[in-house]
Amino acid sequence: MALTQSGSGRDGWSSRTAFILAAIGSAVGLGNLVRFPAEAGANGGGAFVLFYILCIVLIGLPVLLSETLIGRHGQAAAPESFRKVAEQSGKSTAWEHVASLGVLSAFLVLAFYCVLGGWVLYYVGVFAGDLFTTGISGGAFSDMTVAEVEGLFPAMISNGTMTVMLNLVFLAVTVFFVSRGVSGGIEKVAVYLMPAFFVLLLGITIYGLFGGQMGRTLAYLFTFEPERLTGPVMLAAVGQAFFSLSLGVAGMVTYGAYVGRNVNLAGTSAIIAAADTAVALLAGLCIFPIVFAAGLAADGGLGLMFTTLPHAFQEIPGGSLLGLGFFVMVGFAALTSSVALMEVPTAWVSERFRFARPVAAGIVTFSAAVLGALSALSMGVLSGFHPLGFLPMFEGMGVLDTLDTLTGKITMPIGALLTSVFIGWVANKRLVDSENGLDGGLHLFWRFLVCWLCPIALTLILIVGIFPGVL
Ligand code: PFF
Repeated sequence: MALTQSGSGRDGWSSRTAFILAAIGSAVGLGNLVRFPAEAGANGGGAFVLFYILCIVLIGLPVLLSETLIGRHGQAAAPESFRKVAEQSGKSTAWEHVASLGVLSAFLVLAFYCVLGGWVLYYVGVFAGDLFTTGISGGAFSDMTVAEVEGLFPAMISNGTMTVMLNLVFLAVTVFFVSRGVSGGIEKVAVYLMPAFFVLLLGITIYGLFGGQMGRTLAYLFTFEPERLTGPVMLAAVGQAFFSLSLGVAGMVTYGAYVGRNVNLAGTSAIIAAADTAVALLAGLCIFPIVFAAGLAADGGLGLMFTTLPHAFQEIPGGSLLGLGFFVMVGFAALTSSVALMEVPTAWVSERFRFARPVAAGIVTFSAAVLGALSALSMGVLSGFHPLGFLPMFEGMGVLDTLDTLTGKITMPIGALLTSVFIGWVANKRLVDSENGLDGGLHLFWRFLVCWLCPIALTLILIVGIFPGVL
Protein backbone atom coordinates (compact mmCIF):
# COMPACT_ATOMS: atom_id res chain seq x y z
CA MET A 1 0.00 0.00 0.00
CA ALA A 2 1.31 3.42 -0.86
CA LEU A 3 1.40 5.53 2.25
CA THR A 4 1.36 9.16 1.34
CA GLN A 5 3.70 10.59 3.92
CA SER A 6 3.80 13.82 2.04
CA GLY A 7 0.18 14.32 2.96
CA SER A 8 -0.63 15.58 -0.53
CA GLY A 9 -2.32 12.43 -1.75
CA ARG A 10 0.66 11.60 -3.98
CA ASP A 11 2.62 8.40 -3.86
CA GLY A 12 5.47 8.76 -1.34
CA TRP A 13 8.05 6.97 0.83
CA SER A 14 6.39 4.73 3.35
CA SER A 15 8.83 5.73 6.10
CA ARG A 16 11.83 7.92 6.85
CA THR A 17 14.05 4.84 6.70
CA ALA A 18 12.78 4.07 3.22
CA PHE A 19 13.67 7.58 2.10
CA ILE A 20 17.11 7.37 3.68
CA LEU A 21 17.82 4.01 2.03
CA ALA A 22 16.59 5.22 -1.36
CA ALA A 23 18.63 8.43 -1.14
CA ILE A 24 21.72 6.48 -0.07
CA GLY A 25 20.97 4.09 -2.93
CA SER A 26 20.93 7.05 -5.31
CA ALA A 27 24.18 8.44 -3.93
CA VAL A 28 26.10 5.19 -3.65
CA GLY A 29 26.96 3.97 -7.11
CA LEU A 30 29.65 3.62 -9.71
CA GLY A 31 31.03 6.98 -8.59
CA ASN A 32 31.91 5.53 -5.16
CA LEU A 33 33.06 2.15 -6.37
CA VAL A 34 34.80 2.92 -9.65
CA ARG A 35 35.83 6.54 -9.64
CA PHE A 36 36.59 7.39 -6.01
CA PRO A 37 39.16 4.63 -5.35
CA ALA A 38 40.87 5.24 -8.68
CA GLU A 39 41.07 8.99 -8.08
CA ALA A 40 42.04 8.79 -4.41
CA GLY A 41 44.93 6.46 -5.17
CA ALA A 42 46.13 8.28 -8.25
CA ASN A 43 45.78 11.81 -6.83
CA GLY A 44 47.78 11.76 -3.66
CA GLY A 45 46.07 9.51 -1.13
CA GLY A 46 45.48 11.07 2.28
CA ALA A 47 45.51 14.71 1.21
CA PHE A 48 42.97 13.98 -1.53
CA VAL A 49 40.77 11.97 0.84
CA LEU A 50 40.84 14.69 3.48
CA PHE A 51 40.06 17.37 0.94
CA TYR A 52 37.26 15.22 -0.51
CA ILE A 53 35.69 14.87 2.95
CA LEU A 54 35.90 18.65 3.43
CA CYS A 55 34.14 19.11 0.07
CA ILE A 56 31.37 16.73 1.12
CA VAL A 57 30.81 18.50 4.44
CA LEU A 58 31.24 22.12 3.39
CA ILE A 59 29.88 22.10 -0.16
CA GLY A 60 28.04 18.86 -0.85
CA LEU A 61 25.98 18.64 2.34
CA PRO A 62 24.63 22.23 2.18
CA VAL A 63 23.51 21.71 -1.44
CA LEU A 64 22.04 18.31 -0.58
CA LEU A 65 19.96 19.95 2.14
CA SER A 66 18.95 22.72 -0.29
CA GLU A 67 17.78 20.21 -2.89
CA THR A 68 15.74 18.06 -0.51
CA LEU A 69 14.27 21.21 1.01
CA ILE A 70 13.04 22.50 -2.35
CA GLY A 71 11.56 19.09 -3.18
CA ARG A 72 9.83 18.63 0.16
CA HIS A 73 8.35 22.11 -0.01
CA GLY A 74 7.22 21.75 -3.62
CA GLN A 75 5.88 18.18 -3.39
CA ALA A 76 6.09 17.87 -7.16
CA ALA A 77 8.46 17.02 -10.02
CA ALA A 78 11.62 19.12 -9.73
CA PRO A 79 10.78 22.08 -12.04
CA GLU A 80 7.36 22.46 -10.45
CA SER A 81 8.92 22.39 -6.97
CA PHE A 82 11.37 25.16 -7.92
CA ARG A 83 8.48 27.13 -9.43
CA LYS A 84 6.42 26.87 -6.22
CA VAL A 85 9.28 28.03 -4.01
CA ALA A 86 10.04 30.91 -6.40
CA GLU A 87 6.38 31.92 -6.61
CA GLN A 88 5.88 31.84 -2.85
CA SER A 89 9.04 33.94 -2.46
CA GLY A 90 7.68 36.51 -4.90
CA LYS A 91 10.43 35.79 -7.43
CA SER A 92 10.47 34.94 -11.12
CA THR A 93 9.20 31.47 -11.96
CA ALA A 94 11.99 31.26 -14.54
CA TRP A 95 13.96 29.65 -11.71
CA GLU A 96 12.14 26.44 -12.58
CA HIS A 97 14.56 26.12 -15.49
CA VAL A 98 17.35 25.31 -13.04
CA ALA A 99 15.46 22.10 -12.44
CA SER A 100 14.69 21.66 -16.15
CA LEU A 101 18.44 21.64 -16.70
CA GLY A 102 18.70 19.09 -13.91
CA VAL A 103 16.11 16.88 -15.56
CA LEU A 104 18.10 17.04 -18.79
CA SER A 105 21.35 16.24 -16.94
CA ALA A 106 19.76 13.28 -15.17
CA PHE A 107 18.58 11.94 -18.52
CA LEU A 108 22.04 12.36 -20.09
CA VAL A 109 23.74 10.67 -17.13
CA LEU A 110 21.15 7.87 -17.25
CA ALA A 111 21.98 7.25 -20.91
CA PHE A 112 25.65 6.50 -20.28
CA TYR A 113 25.35 5.17 -16.71
CA CYS A 114 23.26 2.23 -17.88
CA VAL A 115 25.93 1.38 -20.45
CA LEU A 116 28.38 0.98 -17.58
CA GLY A 117 25.69 -0.92 -15.68
CA GLY A 118 25.55 -3.29 -18.67
CA TRP A 119 29.31 -3.84 -18.46
CA VAL A 120 28.90 -4.76 -14.80
CA LEU A 121 26.22 -7.30 -15.79
CA TYR A 122 28.67 -8.83 -18.25
CA TYR A 123 31.18 -9.45 -15.45
CA VAL A 124 28.45 -10.87 -13.21
CA GLY A 125 27.74 -13.34 -16.01
CA VAL A 126 31.41 -14.13 -16.62
CA PHE A 127 32.14 -14.81 -12.93
CA ALA A 128 28.91 -16.79 -12.45
CA GLY A 129 29.82 -18.95 -15.47
CA ASP A 130 33.32 -19.47 -14.09
CA LEU A 131 32.01 -20.43 -10.65
CA PHE A 132 29.70 -23.01 -12.22
CA THR A 133 32.33 -24.57 -14.43
CA THR A 134 35.46 -24.52 -12.25
CA GLY A 135 34.04 -24.36 -8.72
CA ILE A 136 35.12 -22.29 -5.74
CA SER A 137 38.66 -23.53 -5.08
CA GLY A 138 41.67 -21.63 -6.42
CA GLY A 139 41.49 -18.38 -8.35
CA ALA A 140 38.96 -17.44 -10.99
CA PHE A 141 39.42 -18.28 -14.69
CA SER A 142 41.84 -21.15 -14.06
CA ASP A 143 41.55 -22.22 -17.68
CA MET A 144 42.48 -18.80 -19.07
CA THR A 145 45.76 -16.94 -19.42
CA VAL A 146 46.27 -13.53 -17.84
CA ALA A 147 46.22 -11.94 -21.29
CA GLU A 148 42.87 -13.58 -21.99
CA VAL A 149 41.35 -12.27 -18.73
CA GLU A 150 42.69 -8.77 -19.31
CA GLY A 151 41.46 -9.00 -22.88
CA LEU A 152 37.85 -9.57 -21.78
CA PHE A 153 37.20 -5.85 -21.30
CA PRO A 154 38.47 -4.51 -24.64
CA ALA A 155 36.74 -7.39 -26.43
CA MET A 156 33.46 -6.67 -24.65
CA ILE A 157 33.37 -2.90 -25.18
CA SER A 158 34.22 -3.22 -28.85
CA ASN A 159 31.42 -5.76 -29.37
CA GLY A 160 28.59 -3.38 -30.22
CA THR A 161 25.80 -5.95 -30.32
CA MET A 162 26.72 -7.20 -26.88
CA THR A 163 27.07 -3.81 -25.19
CA VAL A 164 23.84 -2.51 -26.73
CA MET A 165 22.00 -5.62 -25.51
CA LEU A 166 23.53 -5.38 -22.04
CA ASN A 167 22.52 -1.73 -21.88
CA LEU A 168 18.96 -2.68 -22.80
CA VAL A 169 18.85 -5.35 -20.10
CA PHE A 170 20.08 -2.89 -17.49
CA LEU A 171 17.55 -0.27 -18.61
CA ALA A 172 14.79 -2.89 -18.56
CA VAL A 173 15.54 -3.79 -14.95
CA THR A 174 15.63 -0.09 -14.05
CA VAL A 175 12.31 0.72 -15.72
CA PHE A 176 10.71 -2.34 -14.13
CA PHE A 177 11.09 -0.67 -10.73
CA VAL A 178 10.54 2.95 -11.76
CA SER A 179 7.28 2.18 -13.55
CA ARG A 180 5.90 0.70 -10.32
CA GLY A 181 6.09 4.02 -8.54
CA VAL A 182 7.76 5.31 -5.41
CA SER A 183 6.46 3.10 -2.63
CA GLY A 184 5.78 0.09 -4.87
CA GLY A 185 9.01 0.04 -6.88
CA ILE A 186 11.77 2.56 -6.21
CA GLU A 187 11.54 2.11 -2.46
CA LYS A 188 11.45 -1.69 -2.72
CA VAL A 189 14.64 -1.89 -4.73
CA ALA A 190 16.45 0.27 -2.16
CA VAL A 191 15.05 -1.45 0.90
CA TYR A 192 16.15 -4.90 -0.30
CA LEU A 193 19.30 -4.13 -2.25
CA MET A 194 21.03 -1.58 -0.02
CA PRO A 195 21.30 -3.89 3.01
CA ALA A 196 22.52 -6.67 0.68
CA PHE A 197 25.01 -4.22 -0.78
CA PHE A 198 26.39 -3.36 2.67
CA VAL A 199 26.72 -7.04 3.63
CA LEU A 200 28.69 -7.76 0.46
CA LEU A 201 30.87 -4.68 0.86
CA LEU A 202 31.71 -5.50 4.48
CA GLY A 203 32.26 -9.18 3.67
CA ILE A 204 34.73 -8.45 0.88
CA THR A 205 36.48 -5.77 2.94
CA ILE A 206 36.90 -8.24 5.81
CA TYR A 207 38.39 -10.73 3.35
CA GLY A 208 40.86 -8.00 2.38
CA LEU A 209 41.62 -7.31 6.02
CA PHE A 210 42.72 -10.89 6.64
CA GLY A 211 43.61 -12.25 3.23
CA GLY A 212 44.75 -9.16 1.36
CA GLN A 213 47.31 -6.45 1.78
CA MET A 214 45.55 -4.03 4.09
CA GLY A 215 48.77 -2.40 5.35
CA ARG A 216 49.87 -1.46 1.87
CA THR A 217 46.35 -0.27 1.06
CA LEU A 218 46.27 2.03 4.07
CA ALA A 219 49.63 3.48 3.07
CA TYR A 220 48.44 3.91 -0.53
CA LEU A 221 45.16 5.55 0.35
CA PHE A 222 46.06 7.57 3.41
CA THR A 223 49.71 8.66 3.17
CA PHE A 224 49.48 12.40 3.53
CA GLU A 225 51.27 14.18 0.69
CA PRO A 226 49.80 17.69 0.56
CA GLU A 227 52.10 18.74 -2.28
CA ARG A 228 50.12 16.45 -4.60
CA LEU A 229 46.97 18.41 -3.93
CA THR A 230 47.24 20.66 -6.97
CA GLY A 231 44.47 22.89 -8.37
CA PRO A 232 43.12 20.35 -10.89
CA VAL A 233 43.24 17.61 -8.25
CA MET A 234 41.22 19.74 -5.82
CA LEU A 235 38.66 20.45 -8.49
CA ALA A 236 38.49 16.77 -9.35
CA ALA A 237 37.69 16.17 -5.67
CA VAL A 238 34.89 18.76 -5.61
CA GLY A 239 33.39 17.39 -8.83
CA GLN A 240 33.58 13.85 -7.50
CA ALA A 241 31.88 14.90 -4.24
CA PHE A 242 28.97 16.32 -6.23
CA PHE A 243 28.61 13.38 -8.55
CA SER A 244 28.80 11.03 -5.61
CA LEU A 245 26.04 12.80 -3.67
CA SER A 246 23.89 12.88 -6.86
CA LEU A 247 23.71 16.68 -6.78
CA GLY A 248 23.02 19.12 -9.58
CA VAL A 249 20.61 16.86 -11.49
CA ALA A 250 17.52 17.65 -9.43
CA GLY A 251 17.64 14.07 -8.21
CA MET A 252 17.49 14.93 -4.54
CA VAL A 253 14.77 17.51 -5.30
CA THR A 254 12.76 14.72 -6.89
CA TYR A 255 13.32 12.27 -4.01
CA GLY A 256 12.72 15.08 -1.49
CA ALA A 257 9.26 15.64 -2.97
CA TYR A 258 8.12 12.29 -1.57
CA VAL A 259 9.30 13.05 1.98
CA GLY A 260 6.84 13.61 4.81
CA ARG A 261 6.62 16.87 6.76
CA ASN A 262 7.68 15.12 9.95
CA VAL A 263 11.19 14.34 8.66
CA ASN A 264 14.10 16.51 9.80
CA LEU A 265 15.88 17.22 6.53
CA ALA A 266 19.17 18.43 8.00
CA GLY A 267 19.73 15.30 10.10
CA THR A 268 18.62 13.05 7.27
CA SER A 269 20.91 14.77 4.75
CA ALA A 270 23.82 14.32 7.15
CA ILE A 271 23.12 10.59 7.38
CA ILE A 272 22.99 10.29 3.59
CA ALA A 273 26.27 12.18 3.11
CA ALA A 274 28.00 10.20 5.87
CA ALA A 275 26.90 6.87 4.42
CA ASP A 276 27.96 7.85 0.92
CA THR A 277 31.41 8.90 2.14
CA ALA A 278 31.82 5.79 4.25
CA VAL A 279 31.06 3.64 1.20
CA ALA A 280 33.59 5.52 -0.93
CA LEU A 281 36.28 4.92 1.71
CA LEU A 282 35.26 1.30 2.22
CA ALA A 283 35.37 0.77 -1.55
CA GLY A 284 39.05 1.69 -1.46
CA LEU A 285 39.62 -0.61 1.52
CA CYS A 286 37.79 -3.39 -0.32
CA ILE A 287 39.46 -3.11 -3.74
CA PHE A 288 43.14 -2.37 -3.14
CA PRO A 289 43.97 -5.21 -0.70
CA ILE A 290 42.84 -7.65 -3.38
CA VAL A 291 44.76 -5.88 -6.13
CA PHE A 292 47.93 -5.73 -4.03
CA ALA A 293 47.56 -9.32 -2.80
CA ALA A 294 47.64 -10.40 -6.44
CA GLY A 295 50.91 -8.50 -6.85
CA LEU A 296 49.37 -5.97 -9.23
CA ALA A 297 49.81 -2.22 -9.51
CA ALA A 298 46.82 -0.01 -8.77
CA ASP A 299 45.52 1.18 -12.09
CA GLY A 300 43.56 4.38 -12.61
CA GLY A 301 40.29 4.96 -14.44
CA LEU A 302 37.95 2.26 -15.64
CA GLY A 303 40.89 -0.18 -15.98
CA LEU A 304 40.99 -0.61 -12.18
CA MET A 305 37.58 -2.23 -12.00
CA PHE A 306 37.25 -3.88 -15.36
CA THR A 307 40.80 -5.12 -16.09
CA THR A 308 42.98 -5.08 -12.97
CA LEU A 309 40.36 -6.50 -10.58
CA PRO A 310 39.31 -9.46 -12.78
CA HIS A 311 43.02 -10.28 -13.12
CA ALA A 312 43.43 -9.98 -9.35
CA PHE A 313 40.51 -12.37 -8.78
CA GLN A 314 42.32 -14.83 -11.04
CA GLU A 315 45.27 -14.83 -8.64
CA ILE A 316 43.62 -15.09 -5.23
CA PRO A 317 41.98 -18.08 -3.50
CA GLY A 318 38.19 -18.17 -3.87
CA GLY A 319 38.49 -15.65 -6.71
CA SER A 320 35.40 -16.83 -8.64
CA LEU A 321 33.08 -16.45 -5.66
CA LEU A 322 34.65 -13.19 -4.51
CA GLY A 323 34.57 -11.80 -8.03
CA LEU A 324 30.92 -12.76 -8.41
CA GLY A 325 30.06 -11.21 -5.04
CA PHE A 326 31.99 -8.10 -5.94
CA PHE A 327 30.30 -7.49 -9.29
CA VAL A 328 26.84 -8.33 -7.90
CA MET A 329 27.51 -5.70 -5.24
CA VAL A 330 28.54 -3.13 -7.88
CA GLY A 331 25.43 -4.04 -9.88
CA PHE A 332 23.18 -3.40 -6.87
CA ALA A 333 24.78 0.00 -6.31
CA ALA A 334 24.48 0.91 -9.98
CA LEU A 335 20.82 -0.14 -10.10
CA THR A 336 19.73 1.94 -7.11
CA SER A 337 21.45 4.92 -8.78
CA SER A 338 20.00 4.32 -12.24
CA VAL A 339 16.53 4.06 -10.69
CA ALA A 340 17.06 7.56 -9.19
CA LEU A 341 18.37 8.88 -12.49
CA MET A 342 15.35 7.53 -14.36
CA GLU A 343 12.89 8.80 -11.76
CA VAL A 344 13.90 12.44 -12.33
CA PRO A 345 12.78 12.68 -16.00
CA THR A 346 9.96 10.18 -15.45
CA ALA A 347 8.35 12.26 -12.68
CA TRP A 348 8.66 15.31 -14.92
CA VAL A 349 7.20 13.70 -18.09
CA SER A 350 4.41 12.16 -16.05
CA GLU A 351 3.39 15.45 -14.37
CA ARG A 352 4.05 17.77 -17.28
CA PHE A 353 2.15 15.76 -19.91
CA ARG A 354 -0.21 14.01 -17.49
CA PHE A 355 0.91 10.56 -18.60
CA ALA A 356 0.46 7.53 -16.42
CA ARG A 357 3.76 6.64 -14.75
CA PRO A 358 4.43 3.47 -16.81
CA VAL A 359 3.94 5.45 -20.03
CA ALA A 360 6.25 8.23 -18.85
CA ALA A 361 8.87 5.70 -17.74
CA GLY A 362 8.54 3.94 -21.09
CA ILE A 363 9.17 7.16 -23.03
CA VAL A 364 12.24 7.96 -20.92
CA THR A 365 13.55 4.40 -21.32
CA PHE A 366 13.13 4.41 -25.08
CA SER A 367 14.98 7.73 -25.42
CA ALA A 368 17.73 6.62 -23.04
CA ALA A 369 18.08 3.38 -24.99
CA VAL A 370 18.72 5.30 -28.22
CA LEU A 371 21.30 7.63 -26.67
CA GLY A 372 22.70 4.71 -24.68
CA ALA A 373 23.19 2.69 -27.85
CA LEU A 374 25.22 5.56 -29.32
CA SER A 375 27.25 5.67 -26.07
CA ALA A 376 27.80 1.92 -26.08
CA LEU A 377 28.89 1.96 -29.71
CA SER A 378 31.25 4.87 -29.10
CA MET A 379 33.68 2.35 -27.58
CA GLY A 380 33.64 0.37 -30.83
CA VAL A 381 32.34 1.13 -34.30
CA LEU A 382 31.47 4.73 -33.46
CA SER A 383 34.81 5.52 -31.82
CA GLY A 384 35.61 7.99 -34.59
CA PHE A 385 32.40 9.96 -34.01
CA HIS A 386 33.14 12.96 -31.79
CA PRO A 387 29.83 14.87 -31.52
CA LEU A 388 31.24 17.97 -29.79
CA GLY A 389 34.81 17.47 -30.97
CA PHE A 390 34.88 20.99 -32.47
CA LEU A 391 35.05 22.36 -28.90
CA PRO A 392 38.49 22.04 -27.30
CA MET A 393 37.22 20.48 -24.06
CA PHE A 394 35.50 17.65 -25.97
CA GLU A 395 38.23 17.08 -28.51
CA GLY A 396 38.66 13.43 -29.48
CA MET A 397 35.76 12.28 -27.25
CA GLY A 398 33.16 9.76 -28.34
CA VAL A 399 29.51 9.95 -27.24
CA LEU A 400 30.02 8.28 -23.83
CA ASP A 401 32.96 10.46 -22.78
CA THR A 402 31.21 13.53 -24.16
CA LEU A 403 28.12 12.86 -22.03
CA ASP A 404 30.26 12.20 -18.96
CA THR A 405 32.26 15.41 -19.39
CA LEU A 406 29.30 17.55 -20.40
CA THR A 407 27.30 16.56 -17.33
CA GLY A 408 30.14 16.24 -14.78
CA LYS A 409 32.00 19.41 -15.72
CA ILE A 410 29.24 21.67 -17.03
CA THR A 411 25.57 20.92 -16.47
CA MET A 412 25.79 19.38 -12.99
CA PRO A 413 27.99 22.14 -11.51
CA ILE A 414 25.74 24.78 -13.13
CA GLY A 415 22.67 23.08 -11.62
CA ALA A 416 24.26 22.91 -8.17
CA LEU A 417 25.58 26.47 -8.39
CA LEU A 418 22.17 27.89 -9.30
CA THR A 419 20.49 25.78 -6.61
CA SER A 420 22.74 27.24 -3.93
CA VAL A 421 22.19 30.77 -5.27
CA PHE A 422 18.45 30.13 -5.36
CA ILE A 423 18.31 28.96 -1.76
CA GLY A 424 20.93 31.39 -0.46
CA TRP A 425 19.82 34.58 -2.20
CA VAL A 426 16.48 34.19 -3.95
CA ALA A 427 14.10 32.06 -1.93
CA ASN A 428 12.21 33.60 0.96
CA LYS A 429 14.26 33.21 4.15
CA ARG A 430 11.30 32.34 6.32
CA LEU A 431 10.16 29.63 3.92
CA VAL A 432 13.66 28.13 3.83
CA ASP A 433 14.09 28.34 7.60
CA SER A 434 10.80 26.60 8.25
CA GLU A 435 11.90 23.62 6.16
CA ASN A 436 15.57 23.11 6.89
CA GLY A 437 15.47 21.65 10.39
CA LEU A 438 18.41 23.74 11.62
CA ASP A 439 18.70 26.33 14.34
CA GLY A 440 21.28 28.42 16.18
CA GLY A 441 24.89 28.46 15.06
CA LEU A 442 24.46 25.54 12.68
CA HIS A 443 21.76 27.45 10.84
CA LEU A 444 24.01 30.49 10.45
CA PHE A 445 26.89 28.32 9.32
CA TRP A 446 24.70 26.60 6.70
CA ARG A 447 23.54 30.03 5.47
CA PHE A 448 27.15 31.12 5.08
CA LEU A 449 27.94 27.96 3.14
CA VAL A 450 25.01 28.19 0.69
CA CYS A 451 25.36 31.94 0.22
CA TRP A 452 29.13 32.16 -0.17
CA LEU A 453 31.26 29.06 -0.12
CA CYS A 454 29.14 26.88 -2.44
CA PRO A 455 28.62 29.49 -5.17
CA ILE A 456 32.30 30.46 -5.14
CA ALA A 457 33.61 26.89 -5.15
CA LEU A 458 31.16 25.86 -7.87
CA THR A 459 32.03 28.84 -10.04
CA LEU A 460 35.66 27.79 -9.77
CA ILE A 461 34.88 24.21 -10.82
CA LEU A 462 33.01 25.52 -13.82
CA ILE A 463 35.78 27.85 -14.92
CA VAL A 464 38.41 25.19 -14.58
CA GLY A 465 36.18 22.54 -16.14
CA ILE A 466 35.59 24.69 -19.19
CA PHE A 467 39.06 26.28 -19.43
CA PRO A 468 41.37 23.58 -18.11
CA GLY A 469 44.50 25.68 -18.74
CA VAL A 470 43.48 28.32 -16.18
CA LEU A 471 44.99 26.52 -13.17
N1 PFF B 1 25.76 9.28 -7.19
C1 PFF B 1 25.85 8.26 -8.21
C2 PFF B 1 27.22 7.62 -8.16
O1 PFF B 1 28.06 8.03 -7.36
O2 PFF B 1 27.45 6.70 -8.93
C3 PFF B 1 25.57 8.82 -9.60
C4 PFF B 1 24.27 9.56 -9.68
C5 PFF B 1 23.09 8.90 -9.34
C6 PFF B 1 24.24 10.89 -10.03
C7 PFF B 1 21.87 9.58 -9.34
C8 PFF B 1 23.05 11.58 -10.06
C9 PFF B 1 21.87 10.91 -9.71
F1 PFF B 1 20.73 11.57 -9.72
